[in-house]
Amino acid sequence: MENGHLTRQELLRQLTQTAAGTPMGTLLRSFWQPVAPADSVEPGKARALRVLSEDLTLYRGESGTPYLIGARCAHRCTVLHTGWVQDDQVRCMYHGWRYDGTGRCTEMPAEKNVSPDLVKIAGYPVHEYGGLLFAYLGAGPAPAFDLPRKPGLEEPGRLRVIRYQEWDYNFFQGTENSLDATHVSYVHVWGKVSRFGDEITTAVPELSYEETSSGIRQTAFRSANNVRISDWTFPNNNHIVSPGPRKGDPWTDSVTWHVPIDDEHTMRFAVTTMASTEPDTDRRFLEDRREGYNPADHYHELFEEHRMPEGIGSQQVIATQDYVALRGQGTIVDRSQERLGQSDAGVALLRRIFLRELEAIREGRPAKAWARLDEPAHLPIQVPEPV
Ligand code: FES
Ligand SMILES: [Fe+2]
Repeated sequence: MENGHLTRQELLRQLTQTAAGTPMGTLLRSFWQPVAPADSVEPGKARALRVLSEDLTLYRGESGTPYLIGARCAHRCTVLHTGWVQDDQVRCMYHGWRYDGTGRCTEMPAEKNVSPDLVKIAGYPVHEYGGLLFAYLGAGPAPAFDLPRKPGLEEPGRLRVIRYQEWDYNFFQGTENSLDATHVSYVHVWGKVSRFGDEITTAVPELSYEETSSGIRQTAFRSANNVRISDWTFPNNNHIVSPGPRKGDPWTDSVTWHVPIDDEHTMRFAVTTMASTEPDTDRRFLEDRREGYNPADHYHELFEEHRMPEGIGSQQVIATQDYVALRGQGTIVDRSQERLGQSDAGVALLRRIFLRELEAIREGRPAKAWARLDEPAHLPIQVPEPV
């Protein structure tokens, strides 16, 4: 602090600090966030979940309804996910206290004169959408489930593939990467060039960025017939289009989120959809060819041998290329050491917007009321694709 003001370095550090009570933690908690793939928890089962440095219990009641409550029992603090789901509640395996989906204790079987109602652990609303479970971890009532919505996730009949990975770096590096169209020309030609690399990365683009009601519109101009627009939604969702499996195919729509597990670990959700006429073939293209492959488990191969692992699919190649660039910055990049240039206009705009919003939060002023675009962003497909 200098005279009560935060230094530039302190401000930049706040971009990376996401625990409850920090300005960024408050900001991220004021939006619905994806916290798990929907199929990661079955009806009648519970699992542990860490998000925004909070340890939680994610479970589905026997009805299939998902719930998110605190990790630990209020009695003597053992974890609840080892307990039993009964109806739509969880019973602790240690002494049988039972909790509903809001975190309210409903039974203390071994206690005589205590009202369980007086005991409450954390409980957050959950909403299932697009194959993911979203949660609202903020204070007060949850906002309408609106800003994460995308037409591509709602149109019936579209092929949908979900990719979930946990990476060992701070979420803001992934978020900044979404507003860095230049990286595409380098990162995505490393190791192995996918169709994405072939079609898009032929030239370093001219860039323009514009703040919208929902986030930032990014335009990367590579030539008159290669203009790539992406629609980034505040605070951590990117939406891009990419070539489909074969020349002439409709392009795929991908929406990705970087969500902090804690300040040094990030969940990356990518949901890719396409209007497919050959779903079996296209699913094979979109799905991970090497099931369970996560670049974070292959540090030596990627960083010491500088070698793209064998046998991974093109979507995995793209994710791995990004991982190497972002993890290469360090677990939490030291932004005081950077030298930004003109090509970092998107990163600079992103930081200006976040710093403005964090300042409002620190000073107790209202932050911007972000809202979905009246017209969904049109992401043109302008690279000619001879069939
Ligand atoms: S620790 Fe959960 S009931 Fe005792
Ligand atoms: Fe990338």
